[in-house]
Amino acid sequence: MSTQVKITRVTTATVRDMKKKGEKISMLTAYDYPTAAAMDEAGIDLILVGDSLGMVVLGYDSTLPVTMEDMIHHTKAVTRAVNRAMVIGDMPFMSYQVSVEEAVRNAGRFMQEAGAHGVKLEGGREVAEVTRRIAQAGIPVMAHIGLTPQSVHQLGGYKVQGKDHPSAMKLLEDAKILEDAGAFSIVLECVPAPLAEKITASLSMSTIGIGGGVHCDGQVLVVHDMLGLFERFTPKFVKKYTNLNVQIKGAVTQYIDEVKKGTFPGPEHSF
Ligand code: KIV
Repeated sequence: MSTQVKITRVTTATVRDMKKKGEKISMLTAYDYPTAAAMDEAGIDLILVGDSLGMVVLGYDSTLPVTMEDMIHHTKAVTRAVNRAMVIGDMPFMSYQVSVEEAVRNAGRFMQEAGAHGVKLEGGREVAEVTRRIAQAGIPVMAHIGLTPQSVHQLGGYKVQGKDHPSAMKLLEDAKILEDAGAFSIVLECVPAPLAEKITASLSMSTIGIGGGVHCDGQVLVVHDMLGLFERFTPKFVKKYTNLNVQIKGAVTQYIDEVKKGTFPGPEHSF
């Protein structure tokens, strides 16, 4: 008799339920097969194939150059690896801003071609109609407000948002508008913790914080940040759980040394 354990996929219903039960939601980004497989085996709830890909994997200065083709390619690698987590594809810059029709078609590509289970898009009330139409097409939508990196030039840099009363109220209203438009969850990036707490309490959908404090329903980090693989800069909200950059350099230095000395390969690695 097989002893295989049946794995239950995390869905929008699971995410909703977790909020109701006060169970925290864990989310990380992933962009490739082995990282996604390890995360899924470790029990992560949600995996975001973030357009942060552009900065932490492809070496761009911002997320703006990332294309739909880049995102589809990497989302496919992640969905091939994952059995339990819900995989969210991040809609890149200009894939949902030009027209609602284009947005729905591009969201559909994440589901149909890449096997994602939902999409994320940045923005407040200005993307409410797009959110509504994608959700009406049967595609789960995760919203994203606060610091929205695709608007970095308009925001004037990577800064905390909602610090004064009017901008805090606007974020609170935007979150409600996006919930009413059909989003199932929302990322709150770089907003003061008391504001994130207030937004979280005002919504039925789950909030996922990144620089939003501990009272969000869940947390997300960019995996290269938390593993110490991205050294260019480290935002205040990042906790480094390990330092893979140091470990990689150590292993590579040892390899170079052994190749130069002729101690690798040994007889056990030879035929
Ligand atoms: O692209 C990304 O990784 C993101 C997260 C920071 C939420 O949008």
